[in-house]
Amino acid sequence: MKICLTGSSGLLGGAVRSACAGRGWECKALGRDLVDFRHPMGVQEALRGYDVLIHAAANTNVEACEADPEMCFKDNALLTEVMAAAAVKRGVRFVFISSTGVYGDYLGRPYNEYDRVLPTTHHHMAKRCGEKSVLRASDSLVVRTGWLFGGSFLNRKNFVVRRIEEAVQSNGVIHSNSEQRGSPTYVKDVAVRLLQMIEDRQHGVFNCVNEGFASRLEYVSKIIEYAGISANIIPSLANSFNRRAKVSNNETALNLKMRQCGYDVMPNWEESLMRYFKEELCEFISGFHA
Ligand SMILES: NC(=O)c1ccc[n+]([C@@H]2O[C@H](COP(=O)([O-])OP(=O)(O)OC[C@H]3O[C@@H](n4cnc5c(N)ncnc54)[C@H](OP(=O)(O)O)[C@@H]3O)[C@@H](O)[C@H]2O)c1
Repeated sequence: MKICLTGSSGLLGGAVRSACAGRGWECKALGRDLVDFRHPMGVQEALRGYDVLIHAAANTNVEACEADPEMCFKDNALLTEVMAAAAVKRGVRFVFISSTGVYGDYLGRPYNEYDRVLPTTHHHMAKRCGEKSVLRASDSLVVRTGWLFGGSFLNRKNFVVRRIEEAVQSNGVIHSNSEQRGSPTYVKDVAVRLLQMIEDRQHGVFNCVNEGFASRLEYVSKIIEYAGISANIIPSLANSFNRRAKVSNNETALNLKMRQCGYDVMPNWEESLMRYFKEELCEFISGFHA
């Protein structure tokens, strides 16, 4: 299989590159230099001879997106539309990485793929616009994920590493949201399942998260426990964080369609988090215990 990938320098993009290598699939990175909105022909040219375009690039800074909606829609909606159109013109299958945040904040249970979408932030509205332009092509796949962890400890967006640093720098006192719930999800697990679904020629919308749910507080507590450092994690209410973006307090999701299609259950998030520590964070953690 020959894959083109946007967002290859991101948390998920790195895992997709490794998973492709593991399968012996070619994976070509499409960087920002190729995405010129005035010249979509350049994207079409880059796709020549490839089977699938995985569009994982996004402006993932939800707060910045709320402050500058025009930039947000350009990076998340227009970019997706341009990439999807180029893929259709080239006859390349399109895979869009979206977010479980598109469901919004109207249910008290985990969202599944048959639930309505009522996004509450500009970031998630733009991701939903992207989904709509993608789903116009009958052979396209939209994968909704959330609360991603994994990747290099040097990546500034690495949630796990940043919480450990925060605990150390604040002398062991950190505040964490006890109201917001989600499905923490390892990028490696998403990448492996993504390639499997591509191989199976799946299309339409699929949730793709690790099994199990947690509040931010429970998630951060597990991170601190696995890091082997002592910290006092203080439960705090969502509105005490003074965020611009009104992110849903319920970002939990179920992989219902995967189950209906007969896929193995995704690993539990706590087991995957432990695996991430063991396989990728040993060097970083040993720095704190030296
Ligand atoms: N992180 C999460 O918890 C989460 C949750 C739900 C959904 N998702 C989705 O999962 C996907 C991957 O997320 P991630 O966390 O791996 O992202 P990330 O680490 O923030 O990386 C974003 C990637 O997108 C590229 N990018 C950003 N704006 C671009 C633009 N205008 N043109 C071209 N490339 C651009 C970045 O390139 P540069 O290196 O050049 O900046 C980078 O490679 C995204 O679609 C995101 O919406 C993530």
